[in-house]
Amino acid sequence: MDLELILVIKILQNVLVEQIVEQGKRVTVAMGTNRDLTPACVRKVVPQSSPSEEMGSYWGYKVRYASNLSGVINDSPYKEGYDHIIGTSEHGETIISSELILPSFRHLLIAFGGLAGLEESIEEDPNLNGKGANDVFPCYLNTCPNQGSRTIRTEEALLISLQYFQDPIRRAGMAS
Ligand SMILES: C[S@@+](CC[C@H](N)C(=O)[O-])C[C@H]1O[C@@H](n2cnc3c(N)ncnc32)[C@H](O)[C@@H]1O
Ligand SMILES: *[C@@H]1O[C@H](CO)[C@@H](O)[C@H](O)[C@H]1NC(C)=O
Repeated sequence: MDLELILVIKILQNVLVEQIVEQGKRVTVAMGTNRDLTPACVRKVVPQSSPSEEMGSYWGYKVRYASNLSGVINDSPYKEGYDHIIGTSEHGETIISSELILPSFRHLLIAFGGLAGLEESIEEDPNLNGKGANDVFPCYLNTCPNQGSRTIRTEEALLISLQYFQDPIRRAGMAS
């Protein structure tokens, strides 16, 4: 029995892939340079790591669930853990991005809080009893000085901070 499977991808047209894929499963499809989207041109399903490993391209993030902040810090997916941890807050230290010196690292964790910020995440975590932001985060930074609005949403702070850290991260380089 032959089964052909058509996947709908971002371009809102169907493409044919050469293997049977479970319904609802998200896959990475190598589109190649041929723009023919008819079933005459069959595409390959490739590993999710393929764009980053083969082309050095960003291909989205992975999600890990932790029920408290110490779980975020300690249950790293890397067996050697994180070698540098940064907390972000409007109460953090203000250092202009061009003057921020980060150590070289292999696995950097940048933490963002929710509605009530990281300080409340620390207070709520029984493993971090009596600790303050500066105990948990050796580096606690305000990445948007003179923010103007009373508060910045996490999803806004994320983009602002990634831009802020881009140059310091590039200068720090990767630890061997
Ligand atoms: C709604 S804000 C939390 C505000 C909260 N009052 C606090 O004490 O941080 C959500 C998250 O956005 C990030 N954030 C907001 N403003 C920031 C700033 N000026 N610098 C760095 N991070 C900021 C922090 O990670 C914060 O936990
Ligand atoms: C903290 O979070 C970790 C990871 O999710 C979990 O294993 C642990 O039970 C949590 N501890 C408490 C006290 O909630």
